[in-house]
Amino acid sequence: MCGIVGYTGIKNAKDIIINGLKTLEYRGYDSSGIAFVNEGKIEVYREVGRINALEQLVKDVQPAHIGMGHTRWATHGKPAKENSHPHTSTNRLITLVHNGVIENYLEIKNELLKKGYTFSSETDTEVVANLLEDEYKKTKDMKQAIINMMKRVHGSYALGILCADSSDTLYCAKNKTPMLAGVGEGFNMIGSDAMAMIKETNKFIEINDLEFLVVSDKNIEIYDQDGNAIKRDSFTSNVNANDISLGTYDHYMLKEINEQPTVIRTLLKEYLDNGKTKIDSQILSEIKNADRLYIVASGTSMHAGYVGKYLIEELASIPVEVHIGSEFGYHLPLISKKPLFIFITQSGETADSRVALQLVKKHGYKSLTITNVAGSTLSREADYTLLLHAGPEIAVASTKAYVAQVTLLALIANELASNKLDLNLELSKVATSIEDIISRKDQIRKIVTDRIVYSRNAFYIGRNLDYYVALEAALKLKEISYIQTEGFASGELKHGTIALIEDETPVLAIISQKHIALNTRSAIQEVRAREAMTTIISMEHVANDDDNFIVSDTHELLAPLAMVVVTQLIAYYAALAKGYDIDKPRNLAKSVTVE
Ligand code: G6P
Repeated sequence: MCGIVGYTGIKNAKDIIINGLKTLEYRGYDSSGIAFVNEGKIEVYREVGRINALEQLVKDVQPAHIGMGHTRWATHGKPAKENSHPHTSTNRLITLVHNGVIENYLEIKNELLKKGYTFSSETDTEVVANLLEDEYKKTKDMKQAIINMMKRVHGSYALGILCADSSDTLYCAKNKTPMLAGVGEGFNMIGSDAMAMIKETNKFIEINDLEFLVVSDKNIEIYDQDGNAIKRDSFTSNVNANDISLGTYDHYMLKEINEQPTVIRTLLKEYLDNGKTKIDSQILSEIKNADRLYIVASGTSMHAGYVGKYLIEELASIPVEVHIGSEFGYHLPLISKKPLFIFITQSGETADSRVALQLVKKHGYKSLTITNVAGSTLSREADYTLLLHAGPEIAVASTKAYVAQVTLLALIANELASNKLDLNLELSKVATSIEDIISRKDQIRKIVTDRIVYSRNAFYIGRNLDYYVALEAALKLKEISYIQTEGFASGELKHGTIALIEDETPVLAIISQKHIALNTRSAIQEVRAREAMTTIISMEHVANDDDNFIVSDTHELLAPLAMVVVTQLIAYYAALAKGYDIDKPRNLAKSVTVE
């Protein structure tokens, strides 16, 4: 989590770094900091809160041509100025920013304390700063100091480093945490992702684990952890700076909700041509030949995985298991004879899923990553990749990536089905249904203010596909409105959790599947009898006239794509009514690059 951006070159480093940090705020936003080199001296500025606060703090700092910044999501130590990055070593020789977790930091810290190094923060990062200083004092050679540091430190890190003795150079080291180099004319950059640098350049160089860089305004040198030089060509990214602008919207989340019909249509263009699939035939045959698919993902992506499981089993008759990334990485269930592992991840960087992918690779199994970010770590490390083409998703609460994931899983499932749906037609109907929901968003806003927003807790219920939507709906509502919400299989509520239903507890039912519509309506009666405040979100073909919101019909198997949009808007308006920071909810980060 945490975002890093560094710059060395002809322009004013401050503006470029502050802009870069603003685009990286999705990775963490409890505090931030920046270091510049001015007249050979390293100056450090740190502030708690958002980048705007840091921007104010450095507004009168004189222009510098080299510097690096950091936006933090606290792991070791609370969000406070002293725990913010950059951290400086005891004798001020080394200043660094870090994303990741140093596992053996306490052991190294004790050794350094004995040598007289001092610490002013609770972070694992400060240990690396002092360790580097110690190594540098011994070797008087930054490259060797970094090599020695990398051999000593265990854990994950992307590091941006400045040394007081070579203040025209940016150093960078990487292991298990994302980092890229940006290549320019008269300047070079480092950054946690391409978006942080895209206003300056669209040319990037990948950095692999256990490599480090020596970056000047003219050169980027890459080395492995033994100090061997590595040659690597740059690549051109197709990320567009306009894709990350807010436009006329108040929040990225609303913009991204509105983009969902376009995302579906883009995927149709990318993966279907006159009804014929454009999905890589090798990927399709890997899926077809598998006797079982294992979907591994986290958060919203995992919820998309559940819908995918239903669609693949229903349409293509291939058994599918869905697993939580953080659980799967440390315990493989019994695996079938011919498995295929599918990693679903918007960012392609989620550490929990990556650990699972590494385990899968260790066992020699084949893997496919479904991601929104070309060139991301999980994309590079899996055998195959399918891209979501959703455009950058900035709001921490994922919306359009979910819709893209489910759409792509539907396209895959259908391709392997013996009785194929006309997905050109059916997904176009979904896009239209979503447009209709969005055009009636005021109705949703009213439901929220009348029935949900003043509650401390809430429940979403549904069965089968509707249950999977309920899980995602509950996550969305809790993550941005902080209303404690659970998604429940409607039949399961009575087996314990119904004890939580009190007078006026909001229970929101999702009903889009004919064969279980009446079952969910019975569950509604049960909670109504206990004075719950019930809200029914149904699809036209199973709707009653007095349901609270009726979604226009789509094919039942694709209903989650439309139903979920109602729940995204419910979450949005709940957070809006409460005056919360919708795009950057408390305690969260969009890309969770630590385990
Ligand atoms: C974080 C985000 C979630 C996201 C999850 C998985 O927790 O806040 O919105 O669903 O990570 O992210 P991924 O990039 O792997 O889909």
